[in-house]
Amino acid sequence: MHSIETLQEKIKKAIKSEKFDFKPSELYEPISYTLSLGGKRLRPVLTLMACDFFDGKIKNAIYPAIGIEIFHNFTLLHDDIMDEAPIRRGKETVYKKWDSNIAILSGDVMFALAYKYIAKADKKILPEVLSVFNQTAIQVCEGQQYDMNFETTKNVTIQDYLKMIRLKTAVLLGASLKIGAIIANARNHEKEEIYNFGLNIGLAFQLKDDLLDVFGNEQKFGKKTGNDIITNKKTFLYLKAFELAKNETQQLLKKHFGDTQLENNKKIKVIKEIYEQLKIKEHTEKEIEHFYSEALKNLETINIKDERKTVLKAFAEKLMVRDY
Ligand code: IPE
Ligand code: IPE
Ligand code: MG
Ligand code: MG
Ligand code: MG
Repeated sequence: MHSIETLQEKIKKAIKSEKFDFKPSELYEPISYTLSLGGKRLRPVLTLMACDFFDGKIKNAIYPAIGIEIFHNFTLLHDDIMDEAPIRRGKETVYKKWDSNIAILSGDVMFALAYKYIAKADKKILPEVLSVFNQTAIQVCEGQQYDMNFETTKNVTIQDYLKMIRLKTAVLLGASLKIGAIIANARNHEKEEIYNFGLNIGLAFQLKDDLLDVFGNEQKFGKKTGNDIITNKKTFLYLKAFELAKNETQQLLKKHFGDTQLENNKKIKVIKEIYEQLKIKEHTEKEIEHFYSEALKNLETINIKDERKTVLKAFAEKLMVRDY
């Protein structure tokens, strides 16, 4: 088994060697810009890791892994328009640096480019890979729509939220692993087991992202904190607070979350104070722990020697302890 660092290096190098400096430059520059800013490269590393885990040849997984990372980056271009997010990976978002039309169209090209790379998978397994990828891409859009709907929907439950983040985030982590497993010719039940591991890691990962959006350090997080509060996202933090708050605080939460006139920093401050009072950080961390331990249970069901699981475990843990 290769180490996390080796796999990260491989994928970083592979992405760097791909060039996207075509014409018209207005279309391609945002793509080079986005891909050059890095990010954690989590999903393609998962693809390589799963391929390695099931004894496949990593080199067969490199292009599909790049395709998955390009797909992820495409979703971010559109997501930042939808969330009115100014900063990503510590730099201006594409729609801010250029404009929304550019971010839409560059994103569209990236979606097509994602297929171009994924289609380089071995012909024998390509239909299966494409089927997983297609389903996942559709689910991500479904999740993104729920996320937007919930901004203005009342009575969203924690269960609704979990379904939403499963779609917008977790399925792609699951699919990244599953595609690696398919490339390695793993058995069908193994593909499902590794997918489920990815789903639970993905749920924990999005919960952590929501937590960092409120309590994170902007420099480390690379995004503007408080953005979920400004845009009235029904995150676990909000829903849990609403559940735990007594009358007066609950009214305050309700009032502030619907309020688009209130000055942003004031709104963040008030909501954050409520979260602190109600120990929402601790509640969220508990929920993260829950999905992390579910993920470890998924891993246990896979009938492969424990030593081989250490890299996957270590990677999952690394994601969970992403600091503030
Ligand atoms: C951001 O994903 C979108 C979420 C699902 C929270 P990442 O946190 O993996 O973003 P990068 O690629 O590392 O920037
Ligand atoms: C993003 O969720 C999920 C997708 C991009 C599909 P978020 O909106 O929370 O991601 P960030 O915080 O902007 O990275
Ligand atoms: Mg979003
Ligand atoms: Mg966003
Ligand atoms: Mg977020």
